[in-house]
Amino acid sequence: FSKPPATSLQIAPTTSSDEESAYIDWDNLGFQLMQTDYMYVTKCSDDGIFRQGQLNRYGNIQLSPSAGVLNYGQGLFEGTKAYRREDGRVFLFRPEQNAIRMQIGAERMCMPSPSTDQFVEAVKQTALANKRWIPPFGKGALYIRPLLIGSGPILGFAPAPEYTFLVYACPVGNYFKQGTAPLNLYVEEDVHRASRGGAGGVKSITNYAPVLKAMKNAKANGYSDVLYVDAVNKKYIEEVSSCNIFLVKGNVLSTPIAKGTILEGITRKSIIDIALDLGYTVEERLIEVDELFSADEVFCTGTAVCVAPVGSITYKGQRIEYKISSDQSCKQFYSRLVGIQRGVIKDERNWIVEI
Ligand code: COI
Repeated sequence: FSKPPATSLQIAPTTSSDEESAYIDWDNLGFQLMQTDYMYVTKCSDDGIFRQGQLNRYGNIQLSPSAGVLNYGQGLFEGTKAYRREDGRVFLFRPEQNAIRMQIGAERMCMPSPSTDQFVEAVKQTALANKRWIPPFGKGALYIRPLLIGSGPILGFAPAPEYTFLVYACPVGNYFKQGTAPLNLYVEEDVHRASRGGAGGVKSITNYAPVLKAMKNAKANGYSDVLYVDAVNKKYIEEVSSCNIFLVKGNVLSTPIAKGTILEGITRKSIIDIALDLGYTVEERLIEVDELFSADEVFCTGTAVCVAPVGSITYKGQRIEYKISSDQSCKQFYSRLVGIQRGVIKDERNWIVEI
């Protein structure tokens, strides 16, 4: 393992300080960055094999100005959560799915990637080292952010000569500022998140900044987020800046088919399984924007977002309103998902992993 330059990362004792819970207001967690104690770091160079990583004090990392990630956007990220149960035990939700998604994304972005075991171990170590930051039962979760970046210097356009796999964590509550209130989405027709043959299906860092302006404008106009449509026909819905989307009509749950322009969310996948278990018919298919007008309900899913009902969607100046009720389908899906994550509903699919 080639040690990183001494100045780049400070090595700290790898202890968890769970005895004293972090001094924060657990009742008012949002989705803001909070510095926690430790981050996991490992690197690899030409052989493509990530060495045994280590926990360092959370802090800045040193990168060359010519690092591949800074110049050519060679980078991926992931998001997963650790949940504290009532009895204090801590669980992850399907972390191997994040590892696999990172491996698929790394292949697309011409990067080596950590093995599934290495990825899951890094996530576990990061969660444990920051245990005092894991919110009490029912108050939120520890959001864990694995990053894979081309950290080596390169001038001509080519894969970076060195890669860093880093995992940090932060306690979070609701993703959207309005808390659990229904989302008001804006359908954007001129800015597209992804196109066929692009990298929209992987969690590349390059998928996010290009839609920042559209999202910022929508938020400035009172919307929660933007719903993007396909770049070719401009008539099929794809996804929201930060999450996937579902429609319910009667007993049928529909979500846009993932054909390279939609990120296959792990929550999306889990909701599909939960809906099938609950007797819904699930369709992954092309969904025309016009179908939003006749849907009974619409909701969004994502690791950060969880399951969020949509209250309205504005398309070509028309506002479509959805009735929100306590017995709507997405509330059932939410309760089942969160129940499994928090250990109050039996996990029959081996989704949760104790750390
Ligand atoms: C997640 O849900 O984990 C994401 O990565 C979305 C991000 C925009 C916060």
